[in-house]
Amino acid sequence: MTKLRNPAVSFAIFLLLYALLAVVPASAQGHPTPNSQLASKDVNSRVESLLKEMTLEERIGQMVQYSAGFATGPSASNLTYDELVAKGQVGSMLNVVGAERTNHYQHIAMEKSRLHIPILFGLDVIHGHRTTFPVPLAIAASWDPEAAETVARVGAQEARADGIAWVFSPMVDIARDPRWGRIIESNGEDPYLSSALARAWVKGYQQGDLSKPDSVAACVKHFAAYGAAIAGRDYNAADMSEITLRQVYLKPYHAAVDAGVATVMTSFNSINGVPATADLFTLTHILRKEWRFDGFVVSDWGAIAELKNHSIGDGPTVARKALLAGTDMDMEGDLYGTVIAAQVQSGKIPESVVDEAVRRILRVKFALGLFDHPYTVVGPAYTATPERRETARKVADETMVLLKNDPVEGVGELLPLSAKAKTVALIGPMADDAQDLLGAWTVAGNPKDVITLKAALGEQFGDKLLYAPGCGLLSGEDENALKSVTFAGSAKNSANEPVPDDGKMIAEAVETARKADVAIMALGEPTNWMEGEAASRAHLGFTGNQEKLLEAVVATGKPVILVVLAGRPLELKWAAEHVPAILEAWSPGIEAGPAIVDILFGAVNPSGKLPSSFPRAVGQEPLYYAQMPTGRPARGDLSRMPRDAAEKFVSRYMDEPNSALFPFGWGLSYTRFSYGEPTVDRAEVPVHEVVDDHNPVVTVSVDVRNTGSVAGTEVVQLYIRNTEASVEQPVRELKGFARVTLVPGETKRVTFPVGFDELNFYSADLKKTVEPTSYDIWVGGSSLAPAGTSLKIVE
Ligand code: BGC
Repeated sequence: MTKLRNPAVSFAIFLLLYALLAVVPASAQGHPTPNSQLASKDVNSRVESLLKEMTLEERIGQMVQYSAGFATGPSASNLTYDELVAKGQVGSMLNVVGAERTNHYQHIAMEKSRLHIPILFGLDVIHGHRTTFPVPLAIAASWDPEAAETVARVGAQEARADGIAWVFSPMVDIARDPRWGRIIESNGEDPYLSSALARAWVKGYQQGDLSKPDSVAACVKHFAAYGAAIAGRDYNAADMSEITLRQVYLKPYHAAVDAGVATVMTSFNSINGVPATADLFTLTHILRKEWRFDGFVVSDWGAIAELKNHSIGDGPTVARKALLAGTDMDMEGDLYGTVIAAQVQSGKIPESVVDEAVRRILRVKFALGLFDHPYTVVGPAYTATPERRETARKVADETMVLLKNDPVEGVGELLPLSAKAKTVALIGPMADDAQDLLGAWTVAGNPKDVITLKAALGEQFGDKLLYAPGCGLLSGEDENALKSVTFAGSAKNSANEPVPDDGKMIAEAVETARKADVAIMALGEPTNWMEGEAASRAHLGFTGNQEKLLEAVVATGKPVILVVLAGRPLELKWAAEHVPAILEAWSPGIEAGPAIVDILFGAVNPSGKLPSSFPRAVGQEPLYYAQMPTGRPARGDLSRMPRDAAEKFVSRYMDEPNSALFPFGWGLSYTRFSYGEPTVDRAEVPVHEVVDDHNPVVTVSVDVRNTGSVAGTEVVQLYIRNTEASVEQPVRELKGFARVTLVPGETKRVTFPVGFDELNFYSADLKKTVEPTSYDIWVGGSSLAPAGTSLKIVE
């Protein structure tokens, strides 16, 4: 790795690698590649004959992508796209949505450009397209890959009907720091869970067959390690050992590539000093050589031009570096189209490099069938059909995590709420906020489709529902600004309204709570400014005056149920100490209200589990369960100051316990589950068996019983710890999970196959290996699972 990173030799090594790898596609080197369609003879022969016809400018044109719609970053310039498309200088466009708009450009490409090469239209379809589902982090909380597949499937169908054949999803960046706003788009902190979901997202989009009329090409992003931005600040550098890179961060991207993902997007960050968009090591050595990826790589928005800010050269230099490293398409950077040709002509860039990038792009276009079916049928405007709403509601139901449900004196557990109508006070700025319930990052989603919590509860309670927003999501002028501009800068209507008086609103909310038997509080953070891209936070509490509102309502002495609506783990310490029932509902999408009501009233028993640890304090971040061991593990009661040297000189905070407030895998149910002792069917396995045969070598089994009085679904989780590896391993790692539904009194035996895939780790010389060692094994309902067994791997 060090050698490959030496700038003096990188070009020579690049050429060598190219000779070995890239000029001849991986498929043609006689090795199977993950996506056989991209490697097919038919696709490749059509690509080769077209390539022969193309001028250098036309070839480079395929490597250029422009946004002819809204912007999510600095825009290239005001270009006349019709003219560029007619000249064959645009291979792909993003943010052009709808059959009519996409057909407009497609007709120009197919009818006016010399070689009639179709445009590939790409878009951010992040949690559904028109039908907006819960945000990806919420979907991860379902621990249900089938749910992710369904969301991707519906998104693909609707996107394709809107002229989009390529979606910039799934984002599988491991996110271990909720200060980073993009945690909302991720599958959370764990590589095993994220990999399982990555495969499901890809399958849902591509169906294993890009040529189907309702398949879209998926784009796994952001390659690589974008989620490890230092201090959780977006676009910041990532710096880590290669072992951690491979063992944690790269795993979900690899899973997506293995699942046949057609495209990969680079990331904005640098990794260990090399900007990811110009990183030969990750983009060529790992992605192409090790993983045999045959699709194409697109830069993130403007990321090639932004390489200049990384101080690795001027425009022509950074474009060359990105291309030679393996970035095939320039998203909205306006560099490939303007500076590559001259460098090919002067011999600075081998023409074969351009040819190979174009091959990769054309392969995807042919595989998608765009040459044969370039246009989209203009159909009636989309409406959220009852079937799709039902699907969105079912998915949302599965994503809800019951964080706490402590008994209240004289009442018992507050949840589920009795269906017999009581007077209910609904309080909080999220209760009726369609835009924020829809969730961040929806291009085609429409707040008008959202059934808010207020609307859903209103249907049930009529005039017995009392409502008070209580405060804004932000305070003072910020609240007005939030209401009056979108993140892309476009004006909304409510500008110049008087600054809301939160003091008065809180007093009204307190009065409202006093009149009711129970208060449901809907609090969270605004999606527009505080979640997603460019939305890092240094504080993780509720925004604006919401915490004050919560404290004031709790002070009335009325029982409070807190519904948290946010796209990241928030700091809920005060709430966890003072509020008896807390439901994490994330950003649930169009069926927000009905799904929350399903859970609150017990029509659906909650089954979600946290994909991300919830901190006690922001100072614990990055906080994740799979920590490395320390020579001085924490001892004693960490909630108080140490009593002696043994409690003091350990790895701990003086002012807060180390543990999460709500740990990874956590989530309660309205029933109880009990676990038997887990067992392994073989206590010892010879190491050669594990290494030689990548099939499972042992089965871990456990009996899980529903000991409560209602049916419920438990996410049964398997964790292991390698106790004697040559390189130290995390104190626990997830290696299996299963959603199991049990009626009261029912017991099911849950089994987990375990073999090389679960037991391996990266050795000091970066080999995936299994050694003679012993593994501790836990099975349970969260990362705190107590019951354990063990397995020995012997010589
Ligand atoms: C984001 C990507 C997104 C792209 C296109 C970038 O700013 O980082 O995730 O796919 O814009 O909208």
